[in-house]
Amino acid sequence: MKKIIITGGAGFIGSHVVRRFVKTYPQYQIVNLDKLTYAGNLANLKDIENEPNYRFVKGDIVDLAYISNLFEIEQPDAVIHLAAESHVDRSITNPLEFVMTNVVGTVNLLNAAKNIWKDDYASKRFYHVSTDEVYGTLGDTDMFTENTAYDPHSPYSASKASSDHFVRAYYDTYGLPTVISNCSNNYGSFHFPEKLIPLAINNIKQQKPVPVYGKGENIRDWLWVEDHARAIDVIFHTAATGTTYNIGGHNEWKNIDLIQLLCAILDKKLGREAGESAKLITYVTDRAGHDLRYAIDATKLKNELGWEPSITFEEGLEKTVDWYLANEAWLSDVTSGHYQEYYSEQYNNR
Ligand code: NAD
Ligand code: TYD
Repeated sequence: MKKIIITGGAGFIGSHVVRRFVKTYPQYQIVNLDKLTYAGNLANLKDIENEPNYRFVKGDIVDLAYISNLFEIEQPDAVIHLAAESHVDRSITNPLEFVMTNVVGTVNLLNAAKNIWKDDYASKRFYHVSTDEVYGTLGDTDMFTENTAYDPHSPYSASKASSDHFVRAYYDTYGLPTVISNCSNNYGSFHFPEKLIPLAINNIKQQKPVPVYGKGENIRDWLWVEDHARAIDVIFHTAATGTTYNIGGHNEWKNIDLIQLLCAILDKKLGREAGESAKLITYVTDRAGHDLRYAIDATKLKNELGWEPSITFEEGLEKTVDWYLANEAWLSDVTSGHYQEYYSEQYNNR
C-alpha cells in the first residue's frame, strides 16, 4: 500500500487535499503532518478523521531531528507538501517565521525524503505546492506562465520562491523526484477569515467594516479550492518528474468589484435592502509592496494533463457564502481561537 505524507493537511487547502485523497484512494495510507498553528484546525477534517486510511501526526517541519525520525519510522512513498505560513500581511510583520517554516521546513522535508529513499527513486514523488505570487506582479494584459521569471515582492512570496528553488535544486543536484505547482488565489470552505473572501463574508455578516486596501484596484485570479485539490491529484498522478505546472481559474477580479459582489449576495441571503452591506466598505491604508495584478495562464496543465476548473466563479462563490452561513460554529471557533485550546489539549496529552 502506498503511504503519502501530506503536510499542512489541517489548513485550508491541505484539508481539501487530504479529504480528496482519503476518499478517492482507499488503497493509500494518508498521514497528515501538521503543527496546528493558528491556521491549522482538525475540525476541518471531522468528516474523515475515523477513516481507516487516515492518520494525523502533530509535528513541526522546522524540527530537523523530529522530521528525520518521522520519515525513518513512516517510510512514506510520497510527500505532498502544503505546510506553510501563508498570509502576506503576517509575513510583513514577522518575516523570519516565514523563512523558518517555508524555507527551512521545506529543506528539512527534502533532506528527509532524500535520506530514506537513498537514491532509489522508483515510484517515489515529492510534490511541492506553491503559489503564483513567486512571479511578482503583472501589468494590464500579460499572464504568468511556467517560464515567467521569479520576481517576488513580499516576504511570503520571497520565502515560497526560495522553497521552489530548493525543490528544483534537489531535483537537479540529487535527482530527487520532485514536482511543483504554482496556483492562484483559492477560495471556498474552511478558509481562515484573515484572507479577503472569508474575512469579507464574516464582517458583512456581522455588520463590521470591510477593509479595502488602497483603492481596491488590485486584481487577483480566484480558483475554487476543490478545483485546486483536483489539479493536485491530477499532477501528483500524471506529471513527469522535474516538471512545473501553473494552476489558475481564468477568473480575474478587482478587489473592490469582488467585495461589491459579496455585499450584493449577502444582502439577498440575509434579507437586507440592496446596497445595505456595501455601506460597510471601508478604504484603509494600502498593504506595503502590494502586488497589483496576478493572472495565471494554465494552458500547459489543460493541454498536457486535461485539467480545467469545474465550476464558474458565480457558482463557487454562492457555495462558499452558503457554507459560511451554515457553519456558524466553525467560524466563531476560529475567530475566538477556541479550536486551538481544544485540539492542543487533545494532542499535547498523548
Ligand atoms: P493555511 O495557512 O490555511 O494552512 C497552512 C497549514 O500549515 C496549517 O494547517 C498549519 O498548521 C500548517 N503549518 C504551518 N507551519 C507549520 C510547520 N512549521 N510545521 C507543520 N505544519 C505547519 O494555508 P493554505 O492557504 O491552505 O495554503 C497551503 C499551501 O498552498 C501553502 O504552501 C501556500 O503557500 C500554498 N498556496 C496557497 C494559496 C491560497 O490561495 N491560499 C494559493 C496558492 C498556493
Ligand atoms: P489575501 O486574501 O490576503 O491574499 P493575497 O494577498 O495572497 O493575494 O488578499 C487578497 C487581496 O485582497 C489582496 O490584493 C489584498 C486585498 N485585501 C484587502 O483589500 N483587504 C483585506 O482585509 C485583505 C485581507 C486583503
